[in-house]
Amino acid sequence: MTSPTIDTEGPLRLVVVGAGGMGRAWARTIQAHDDAELVGIADLAPAAAEAAAAETGIRGLALGSDAVELARRTGADAVVNATIPEAHHQVTTAALLAGLPVLGEKPVAASVAEGLSLAAAAEHTGQLFMVSQSRRYHRSLHQAKRRLETLGAVGVVAVDFFKAPHFGGFRDEMASPLLLDMAIHQFDMARFLLDADPVSVSCEEYNPAWSWYTGDAAATAVFAMEGGARFVFNGSWCSPGFETSWNGSWRLSAERGTVLWDGEGEPGADPDEAVPTVDDPGREIAGSLREFTAALRHGSEPMGRVHANVMSLAMVEAATQSASQGRRVAIDDVLERSYDAALATERNAEVLAVMKAWPSVRDALSQKEPQ
Ligand SMILES: NC(=O)c1ccc[n+]([C@@H]2O[C@H](COP(=O)([O-])OP(=O)(O)OC[C@H]3O[C@@H](n4cnc5c(N)ncnc54)[C@H](O)[C@@H]3O)[C@@H](O)[C@H]2O)c1
Repeated sequence: MTSPTIDTEGPLRLVVVGAGGMGRAWARTIQAHDDAELVGIADLAPAAAEAAAAETGIRGLALGSDAVELARRTGADAVVNATIPEAHHQVTTAALLAGLPVLGEKPVAASVAEGLSLAAAAEHTGQLFMVSQSRRYHRSLHQAKRRLETLGAVGVVAVDFFKAPHFGGFRDEMASPLLLDMAIHQFDMARFLLDADPVSVSCEEYNPAWSWYTGDAAATAVFAMEGGARFVFNGSWCSPGFETSWNGSWRLSAERGTVLWDGEGEPGADPDEAVPTVDDPGREIAGSLREFTAALRHGSEPMGRVHANVMSLAMVEAATQSASQGRRVAIDDVLERSYDAALATERNAEVLAVMKAWPSVRDALSQKEPQ
């Protein structure tokens, strides 16, 4: 799939929409990037946009409440969507329909159904919509993947995620805080490590007696992946002592050896041969911004194109369904139900027509042409 490239003189002109913690981090990251210029900040709350603008130190930075209006006013080339998940679909759809490429925060949208609508909107407009799944951008993760590729068939990829943060705010009150707000990172990293999509999942969610969260803050999920490997996520958000890194602690077990990665330093392998060198993907959102701007300039294919990202959210929805229903859930069932929901709720006739023409959801997401 190719999107139009942008060959303007000077850096790419970007508007950030959503001026919370992540929007401010995006503003700083754009300011530090050679081929990007921050030209405006939009937020429904004027005070949030003003505070974020003050932090940038850019005098007279354009502000607004609507990303498309602000992009038109400033002549922006693209939009970075750092709003809350419930606003992702509306904000990104409006930008794509206005002819603007979008780099969006994870999760792609509030539901897989909305994610499918966004994939179809990107196809309809021909504009790039890339989801920033920031934890993919870590040199050691890429090294671990490269080393794993030399060890034959993979049996299991397992990650332990144990932390004890006291966030306060929405995470303390929401249902499934660990699965909905955090585990998508490790689910997406497992897809990256294995180069494989999920087939089914069995998941248990629970809340330890001492938990300070209202919803279940711990979970264990076993995914069957395409190709036969298993991916096991074992985590808790109320687990003080010997905490893991934010990336989690990984064991990649294959036919001819094992790779261990603590989520921060260099990975280790047994047998202990030299780890092949890898290109540095950049770190976290700076890495995804670099990939987005390269895609807009040169037409290179980014890892996070919406089609390639939706399956990470499908893993989250399948895991929460499995936990609440007490049974194994097939990813295809989640995709089919989401597809029906997307067709039933789509308001844009052209976007609806794109979805109706898909041979199957899996084929559409893997961007296969109809047979
Ligand atoms: N990559 C990571 O590690 C990471 C970390 C934290 C958050 N996130 C993601 O970043 C996104 C934002 O998270 P946050 O913590 O900054 O949230 P936040 O609640 O601090 O900020 C969101 C902002 O968006 C604004 N907003 C909401 N709807 C809007 C709309 N329709 N138009 C314009 N502005 C709107 C709100 O007023 C608010 O200022 C979420 O998708 C979250 O999952 C990613």
